[in-house]
Amino acid sequence: MYRRTFLQLGAAALAAPLLPRPVFADDGFIVLRAGPATAPLMAGEAGSTPVWAFNGSVPGPEIRVKRGETVRVRLVNDSEQPTSLHWHGIRIDNSMDGVPGLTQAPVEPGDSFDYVFTAPDAGTYWYHSHNRSWEQVARGLYGPLVVEGDVAGIGRELSLVIDDWRLTAEGAIDEASLGSMMDWSHAGRLGNWVTVNSRSDPLLRLKAGEPARLRLFNVANARILDLELEGLAAELVGLDGQVFVEPRPLSGIHRLWPGQRADLVVVPQQAGTARLLAHNREDAVQIARFDVEAAAAGSPAVETVLRPNGLAEPDLDDALAVDLIMEGGAMGGLASARHQGERLGMRELVEKGLVWAMNGHAGHADHRGEPLFSVPRGRSVRLNIGNDTRWPHGMHLHGHHVRVLSRNDVPEPDSPWRDVVAMEGQEQVEIALVADNPGKWLLHCHMLEHHAGGMGTWFEVT
Ligand code: C2O
Ligand code: CU
Repeated sequence: MYRRTFLQLGAAALAAPLLPRPVFADDGFIVLRAGPATAPLMAGEAGSTPVWAFNGSVPGPEIRVKRGETVRVRLVNDSEQPTSLHWHGIRIDNSMDGVPGLTQAPVEPGDSFDYVFTAPDAGTYWYHSHNRSWEQVARGLYGPLVVEGDVAGIGRELSLVIDDWRLTAEGAIDEASLGSMMDWSHAGRLGNWVTVNSRSDPLLRLKAGEPARLRLFNVANARILDLELEGLAAELVGLDGQVFVEPRPLSGIHRLWPGQRADLVVVPQQAGTARLLAHNREDAVQIARFDVEAAAAGSPAVETVLRPNGLAEPDLDDALAVDLIMEGGAMGGLASARHQGERLGMRELVEKGLVWAMNGHAGHADHRGEPLFSVPRGRSVRLNIGNDTRWPHGMHLHGHHVRVLSRNDVPEPDSPWRDVVAMEGQEQVEIALVADNPGKWLLHCHMLEHHAGGMGTWFEVT
């Protein structure tokens, strides 16, 4: 446990000002209604953007529970496509994981589905559509899920849900390029408009001397965000929902991959302004502003305490070793791959929208066929992943967190728990996990076009 003395804060915790609260049905279920809405993505520059949203807002309501509590959510599908909800990063009951074709049938338009699960670990998680997610997430079907109980002594909490939209000049979602094979075989759907809580450059309020926790979410389809906090000293206290034993200093750019979260604690020292930047290759864009109010004089001290979830460490000596080779994509030279039991040439694959393969299989994302591996519950697994493509990929495992053991054979001691593992082009990464959650779990690239284009497989814990 880590302790540190901060200056006193005045009031109780404040929820993020820009995110809506959940709506409850009479039976206590939180209702998330997926359907068409508008969002003020380009406020000031153009009208409202038609989106798909939960309860009419992007992001959807911030769901907050305490560690160990039961989450009850009724997904009502008022959209025109079948959909589902995945609870990203939660060690969840497999039947509630929200993967059509693997753990449930998709929820048809007009239907609903009740999700009930306990949230065993505190931290920063999110929910999003897991059906045609390359389209449904691009249109706005996502929201934050916060499980409280890992940090004490924080005065203010702000969730910053960062998205990267591809908009037309009129400020509409560029629909013509949804499903573009160019995106699928290259870096995925990169946008031209970055928002925080669906606002362009919103103003967020902090108070001098008051510790605040900033939860950053990258919900973009494919954009790797190079973020920098300017004018505000911050410490990184957790990643992907797992707080550290001790905070790590944050300086310069923090790289947040699609699907990842980063939790920061800031204690502004004096009144003033600060800003959050997203760096491009050439320049940096300001994506949010902070206004720091002056402190009340004579505030007493308070402590901030981190309480990690204490996930079981993998037993490396007794682990099952699994190799996974990723191939394909533009300039990848993939000649053929297996798909639903048949070997297909590149042209036939592309006709089916498949451009990536894992261990020679494309389109495992449809979850048919054999799992990548099957292990008895409690067994540790070492997964050696070779990215034999020119492209970066953020590999996401459902229902589990992993530690990186090495990159290109260089050990990475003390690597944090992750549920999305960054892999650069041509990089080899070895990860380890304890397969302690029974069921069928996806392992896929969280660049959503890559997943749809074949970069997904699954494993089974029995
Ligand atoms: Cu956040 Cu399978 O995804
Ligand atoms: Cu990828």
